[in-house]
Amino acid sequence: MTSFIIRELKSTDTEALLAFEVRNRHWFEANIDARATSFYSPEGVADHIAGYLSDFASGAWHPLVIEDADGSIVGRANLKSIDSATACAEVGYRIDQHACGQGLATLALRHMIEQARVRWKLTQLVAYAYQANLGSQKVLDRCGFVLEHADGDDEPAKERRFVLFIHSAGSLR
Ligand SMILES: CC(C)(COP(=O)(O)OP(=O)(O)OC[C@H]1O[C@@H](n2cnc3c(N)ncnc32)[C@H](O)[C@@H]1OP(=O)(O)O)[C@@H](O)C(=O)NCCC(=O)NCCS
Repeated sequence: MTSFIIRELKSTDTEALLAFEVRNRHWFEANIDARATSFYSPEGVADHIAGYLSDFASGAWHPLVIEDADGSIVGRANLKSIDSATACAEVGYRIDQHACGQGLATLALRHMIEQARVRWKLTQLVAYAYQANLGSQKVLDRCGFVLEHADGDDEPAKERRFVLFIHSAGSLR
């Protein structure tokens, strides 16, 4: 794998993050919920970053980016809605279409699991993926997440819920 780093989102990431989100907009909208049109501007992304960093400061969110050797952002990963009372959080990730298939989402998810365990002392992570999103489900499965069955799970338009109990994460594949 070419060299990539995973680091925390910074207030100076506006330009790089906007470039990443704009060039992948259609790709992401084909797989995950679309963002508001107002997001796609320097002001929109600066507000988005400010919100994420504020939530990071309060311990509710852990925003990460994946950077390539040229300093371009090629992926994002977030520990979301961190709840210290229940020791639970949600994970989310998105990878540049041209950087897919190199294991970056798997790398990012493993990093988040470790951060969740060591830094945030969480015991449970949840993730949501549309049934048609086979790539994402493979990443979740590989990292030990288990599909939680629910009524209507076979509807393609419905998101499926996956769960990882971190104390059993020693079985990561
Ligand atoms: C899903 C996504 C995160 C995967 O990122 P990635 O960096 O390519 O993931 P990885 O390389 O770690 O692993 C993906 C695996 O799924 C496989 N895969 C991808 N698309 C697939 C498909 N349609 N059917 C079956 N397997 C598929 C890949 O071959 C790879 O498996 P391998 O390593 O055994 O070859 C990326 O495609 C993406 O960002 N999509 C748009 C946003 C999104 O869907 N985010 C997740 C929301 S739940």
